[in-house]
Amino acid sequence: MTDTPLLPFDALRPFKGKPEDFTPRDTLPWERLAANVLQCGPPEKGFGCLSPAAVVEGNIMWLMNNLSLPSGGTILDIGCGPGLYSNGLAQRGYQVTGIDVAQPFLDYAQAQAEAQGWSCTYLNRSMFALNFEGEFDLSLLINSVARRLTVDELHPLLRQINQALKPGGHLIGEFSVLPSGFETKQPTVNETVAFYQKSPWSTQFHAWMIRELAFPETRERVTHHLILEPDGQPQEYWSRFALHPQSVLPAALAAGGFRIKTYFGPMLGQAYQPDQYSCFVWAVSS
Ligand SMILES: C[S@@+](CC[C@H](N)C(=O)[O-])C[C@H]1O[C@@H](n2cnc3c(N)ncnc32)[C@H](O)[C@@H]1O
Repeated sequence: MTDTPLLPFDALRPFKGKPEDFTPRDTLPWERLAANVLQCGPPEKGFGCLSPAAVVEGNIMWLMNNLSLPSGGTILDIGCGPGLYSNGLAQRGYQVTGIDVAQPFLDYAQAQAEAQGWSCTYLNRSMFALNFEGEFDLSLLINSVARRLTVDELHPLLRQINQALKPGGHLIGEFSVLPSGFETKQPTVNETVAFYQKSPWSTQFHAWMIRELAFPETRERVTHHLILEPDGQPQEYWSRFALHPQSVLPAALAAGGFRIKTYFGPMLGQAYQPDQYSCFVWAVSS
């Protein structure tokens, strides 16, 4: 019998169970990932894993053309990451506060703003402890941990965002929605493995397996990341998305003090399609 070298697939196999419940509903270690993300690609390509410049620019133009924000208006960017939106808006003269829990992202965003002379405040603060009072004309909640939350978990977050806004202030938020046909999906939807020199997970050569799991009975989607470096033990991380029927969102936002104006698809201004896993919501503080 010939010796077959151990393939990463084999090393990862023991990890292929169903995830346990966990709170919060995301085990991604953002503080550590942020430094790697910043090395993964050019900012105009969203560092390879965030929105590319064309999408950010398109969304910023939509905000400027449709929200009637006062010139120099105040904006809170919740989970601002490396400041793609915050700095893009500060560049246009808005007074932006970006909050995030990943210091490497905040340091990067702040350095960019200072180098360009844009006025932008960056704070290391969790979205679950916002602590602002009536300060902002607009809050952004884009590509954020809010997409992982159940309706009950969303309520306190939405109430804090509402409290941070001026009366009649706007919320542009991205939320997870239940796509049509989800109930008929098989538990494991997709499984891919690839090898990388660099990724958000590691800056040395490694295998990265992504498993997309569907749990139709609990209306959840789970992304399971398995990372294997040559000399290391496999590491695993889960992101669990609670999928809300779109019809549930008006009541969920109303409980947080918001009235929905419009739903959008993957970009602001684009129509929402029922086969999508997330949608943008434009809501107003009531
Ligand atoms: C996918 S990135 C999106 C960044 C940015 N909104 C964008 O669209 O370019 C998600 C961000 O949420 C941040 N984050 C995760 N948990 C957070 C929390 N509890 N409070 C604030 N930010 C958080 C992460 O550090 C990361 O920067």
